[in-house]
Amino acid sequence: MILWFLLLQGLALGPGVLTDGTVIKPVRSAGPFDEDHSPPLVPIPRLEEKVAIITGGAGGIGSAAAKLFASHGAYVIIADKNDTAGEKVVQQIGGRVLFKHCDVSKEADVALTVNYALEKFGKLDILFNNAGVASPLQTFQGLNMDDYDRCTAVNVRGIVLGIKHAARVMVPRRTGIILNTASIASVATGGTIKLIYNMNKANIPGITKVAAYHLGKHGIRVNCISPAGLATEMVVDWHKKFVQENIDRHTLEKAFLRCSPLNGRICTTEDIAKGALYLCSDESGYISGQNLIIDAGYTNIVDYDPMELRKKLKSASNSDSGSLSSATANTAESGNRDHQCFNPVVISKL
Ligand SMILES: NC(=O)c1ccc[n+]([C@@H]2O[C@H](COP(=O)([O-])OP(=O)(O)OC[C@H]3O[C@@H](n4cnc5c(N)ncnc54)[C@H](O)[C@@H]3O)[C@@H](O)[C@H]2O)c1
Ligand SMILES: *[C@@H]1O[C@H](CO)[C@@H](O)[C@H](O)[C@H]1NC(C)=O
Repeated sequence: MILWFLLLQGLALGPGVLTDGTVIKPVRSAGPFDEDHSPPLVPIPRLEEKVAIITGGAGGIGSAAAKLFASHGAYVIIADKNDTAGEKVVQQIGGRVLFKHCDVSKEADVALTVNYALEKFGKLDILFNNAGVASPLQTFQGLNMDDYDRCTAVNVRGIVLGIKHAARVMVPRRTGIILNTASIASVATGGTIKLIYNMNKANIPGITKVAAYHLGKHGIRVNCISPAGLATEMVVDWHKKFVQENIDRHTLEKAFLRCSPLNGRICTTEDIAKGALYLCSDESGYISGQNLIIDAGYTNIVDYDPMELRKKLKSASNSDSGSLSSATANTAESGNRDHQCFNPVVISKL
């Protein structure tokens, strides 16, 4: 009866009008991307007049975030060490976006980038600490400590420097939002033998929690985001170097599609940018110290499937030695298990 009443009232009020009389007006985006990506009507801008620095903003995830943030009314400074790529992204997005050369592993660069935001826009509301580098394929026994230092300087030190200098200007204003890019490697350490990268990324949720505690007292929120595998330049280049010289973006995306827990769908840079938008907007106002994993549940998958086990047992009993170790080896060879999709050996056989 009540439901019927509500339904009738809803019909009487028409679309866009709530039962309490509130009228919802769709607002046309002021962003430059209506023609490219956005549907014609988008919700009210979520970062209006906010000032954001995005490190690594010249690349895949960072440039997608720069576009999305700008289309939601933010002023964005792309901070990247790649000037050519950075300037190109600025040209593509236009208006609200500036480029500033910055190597996040260098304190002077990070300090100057934060100062640049104040010079240009008078404040810093958001720091998206997103720059990162992949590491070579190595074992612990063969760990090259120069590689370790070089990668850690960007992936860990760079994040800490960003937090330090953002805090310098955010604490006095008693407001601000910091978002760090971790990775599914921060929660699932297997799958690849990019040891250094995995160790680096596993640091990020911890650093995020420590910063959330210390800066929360000053009204600043700190979170991190963990993207699934994406065929961005960093990842394609890494596979070219360590897996297969002629691998291309398309092949890699096919591999990612195969291991996606969400049928028919791979992760996109826009998926990550949308998560970043949420965590950098006031909508996530009481969320701090968290790691948002954007992987369609990939890292939840534990490799135990009784049906697969049955196949393994069968192949074990069919094989010559019939030993458990040969069954394991066979499965690794055939590479058909989902959890191995991020395994370079499997990808090289696609
Ligand atoms: N692509 C993936 O599969 C994936 C998955 C999880 C996490 N991530 C993380 O996402 C972030 C963005 O990577 P992406 O996939 O967009 O790669 P990308 O190569 O497209 O972009 C990375 C950007 O960072 C910049 N950069 C590298 N070192 C820098 C430094 N020292 N100072 C300033 N800028 C620097 C590069 O010039 C590039 O523009 C990284 O932290 C990466 O580790 C990527
Ligand atoms: C800068 O980015 C461009 C375009 O993405 C790329 O081709 C080039 O190799 C990059 N340069 C450096 C020094 O990383």
